[in-house]
Amino acid sequence: MPHITIPATNTTFDCNDDTIMRAAARNGLGFPYECNVGSCGNCKFELLEGEVEHLRKDPPGWSERDLQRKRYLGCQAKPLTDCKIKLNLRDHYKSHYLPKKTVGTLAAIEDITHDIREFRFKLATPNPFLPGQYGLIAAHGVEGARAYSMSNVTTTGEEWHFQIRKVPNGACTGALFDHLKVGDTVGLDGPYGMAWLREDAPRDVVLLGGGSGLSPMVSLARAATASEKLAGRKIHFFYGGRTPRDIFDAKLLSVLPGYGTRLLFHPAISMPEAAETPWTGKVGFVHDFAKEMLGEGLRDCEIYFAGPPMMAQAITKMIVELKVPTSQVHFDQFF
Ligand SMILES: Cc1cc2nc3c(=O)[nH]c(=O)nc-3n(C[C@H](O)[C@H](O)[C@H](O)COP(=O)(O)OP(=O)(O)OC[C@H]3O[C@@H](n4cnc5c(N)ncnc54)[C@H](O)[C@@H]3O)c2cc1C
Ligand code: FES
Repeated sequence: MPHITIPATNTTFDCNDDTIMRAAARNGLGFPYECNVGSCGNCKFELLEGEVEHLRKDPPGWSERDLQRKRYLGCQAKPLTDCKIKLNLRDHYKSHYLPKKTVGTLAAIEDITHDIREFRFKLATPNPFLPGQYGLIAAHGVEGARAYSMSNVTTTGEEWHFQIRKVPNGACTGALFDHLKVGDTVGLDGPYGMAWLREDAPRDVVLLGGGSGLSPMVSLARAATASEKLAGRKIHFFYGGRTPRDIFDAKLLSVLPGYGTRLLFHPAISMPEAAETPWTGKVGFVHDFAKEMLGEGLRDCEIYFAGPPMMAQAITKMIVELKVPTSQVHFDQFF
């Protein structure tokens, strides 16, 4: 089994049929990462000695220049020999619950919108997670695992639920939506991610989601409404779609305690001209809606967001303009 050494910190860990970043996380080390699928480049390290190969050939977060400088992606690099590597470990990335690989058996499926479905898996080896975190799903016949955020809240980790948006011609979503049946299995690995609920933060909570970013926001809303530490705090749930059929039924949230008083749901659509059914609600983008409603008050909130890259960019810009402290903003970029 290959051993990985980080000479600068005198750290050594085993990496058995795994990528270097995931093995480090399983050993409780704070190896920097974000997407886990080779897209963001946040997990780069320098290879000082040894040989590695990337799981994903030609990952978007890696370039020819990186190869020349012997820099590789920790989330994709599997060691072929013992390796010495250079990178800065950071406590921020240490996992609360150590990620583990297991098998999930599909127990139930529920439609959430016309193209978002909740898949509920029972785990062969239970593993808890923090609300807002994500796992990797390896579906049969699909090359590479994909990241999906859990929508449920659990202390035992016996079930992981995912709200997944079907991507036209998508390999993994195609396998899940078109082929997976109750009783079938997938590979699961996790939990991962930094956008977990900060219960100790004494602020109102703002959740901003769009499209595929629904799942972690639902998990955060479920946990925040149940949290004694956050009792008395408002929870604003902004969710955006293009047309009314993209907006989920409010009963997903209205069953939670404090709905309408403490938990406030603010849906919006951005393409009213294409609406299939009449829409009397808000029109626009979620970041504009949040800015209009809360304005500079956003500086006093704990903000979580998830969704397509364009939405994430617009929210990031708004947060910078409003000078919201970065320590109060939590997200794992979707790719
Ligand atoms: C942190 C995170 C959390 C996410 N959470 C959710 C969620 O809760 N709900 C949701 O609907 N979507 C979520 N996504 C998006 C999801 O991971 C997929 O990108 C999306 O479902 C499309 O996958 P696909 O296989 O159907 O589409 P495809 O078009 O076949 O695949 C595209 C995606 O797969 C990646 N990819 C392609 N080849 C490989 C490979 N060999 N190995 C690894 N990755 C590869 C691409 O970078 C791209 O992200 C999340 C993404 C990230 C990064
Ligand atoms: S590329 Fe490795 S975490 Fe994003």
